[in-house]
Formats: sequence, C-alpha cells, structure tokens
Amino acid sequence: MSETRDLGGAVDGGGVERVVLTAHEIAARVAELAHEITGAYPGNEPLLVLGLLKGSFIFMADLVRQLDRPVLVDFLVAASYGEGTVSSGEVRLLYEPETGLEGKHVILIEDIVDSGTTINRLVPVLVEREPRSLEICALLHKRLSAKLALEPRWVGFDAPQEFLVGYGLDHGESFRQLPFIGSLKSPQ
Ligand code: PRP
Repeated sequence: MSETRDLGGAVDGGGVERVVLTAHEIAARVAELAHEITGAYPGNEPLLVLGLLKGSFIFMADLVRQLDRPVLVDFLVAASYGEGTVSSGEVRLLYEPETGLEGKHVILIEDIVDSGTTINRLVPVLVEREPRSLEICALLHKRLSAKLALEPRWVGFDAPQEFLVGYGLDHGESFRQLPFIGSLKSPQ
C-alpha cells in the first residue's frame, strides 16, 4: 500500500501528475464511511448496496466488506447517451440489478459526482421502483451542481477540479487499477 505521495515505480504512474489521495487516506475514510452507514440503519433488515459500474467497483468492494450488518450486493450500468439524445430524468440501464428495490433500504454507490448528470438521471428511475429508502454514498464529490436530484448522504472527500484517475476511476479505461487517486497530466 502506498503511504506516500510518491508515484513510485510500482504502478503505471505514467500520465499521473500527482497523488491526490493516498491508498492509506482512502482506506481510513472508507472505514469511517462504513462505520457511519452501519450505524445509520437500525435493525437487521438487509441493506441493498447498489454499485454503479464501472467506476465504483473498487470502492464498493472495500466498503461492503466493512459493513457490519446484513447486506445484499448488486450492480447497475447506465448507458451514456450522445449529446442531445437524452430526455431529462430518463436513463437507459445497460445492466439491471437482479434484486428488486421495492421495500428495501437502498444505497447507490458512486465513485465520483462530477456534473451530477448521472445522479440526476438515475435517481428518478430508482425512486420509481419504490425502495423503502434511497441514499447515495459517493467517494468523491466535485460540488459543481447546485441542484442534485438527491444529495449524497455520505461523501468520502470533496474533490479538486482536476481530472482524477485511480481506485476505479479511469481515463479511456486506463488507470482504474491504481491503488491511489491521482490527477492526470494535462495533454502536452
Ligand atoms: C463517471 C463516474 C460517475 C459519473 C460522474 O462514469 O463513474 O458515474 O461519470 O459524472 P457526472 O456526475 O458528470 O454524471 P462514466 O460514465 O465515466 O463510466 P464509468 O463508471 O464506467 O467510468
């Protein structure tokens, strides 16, 4: 585990400008989030943790292993539309969770809230399925959008206005495997 801000040679740091959050900092915050989430739901009813792929896969895996309560795990994949082809409040799911949301406490796991478009499109679709409750847990939040359909109840870190990669976040599908979160070098 990288405890320093040195990119080192252990991973393909090529293209990464600097380490924004070390693996150690992320792990400490994920543990706090898991503790807060565990304490937020009394009773033994299972919590449905829904990971939005692909970006959330590492965060999700680290988080659920520290939830000290019954948990159901499922995933969804939202389609990206080209510009001008989206009607507001609608999204097409490329992969549907197999688990029904109705009557369940649901937490949507996001790696990063950037413009907020994904959340604003997804939340109405999930609400329509009548979960008992719906919350969002986002590892990173850029706080760009003044009006989110649902503000994340849990946020790991406020994110700088830089292009971030690592710990699940990609650039052109690369860098997801980095154990830290880094900012990308600007194109030369
Ligand atoms: C990224 C990220 C969030 C979303 C945030 O997903 O994982 O889901 O964008 O951006 P927004 O707030 O501006 O909507 P992306 O569509 O790149 O897919 P990925 O998760 O497969 O990387």
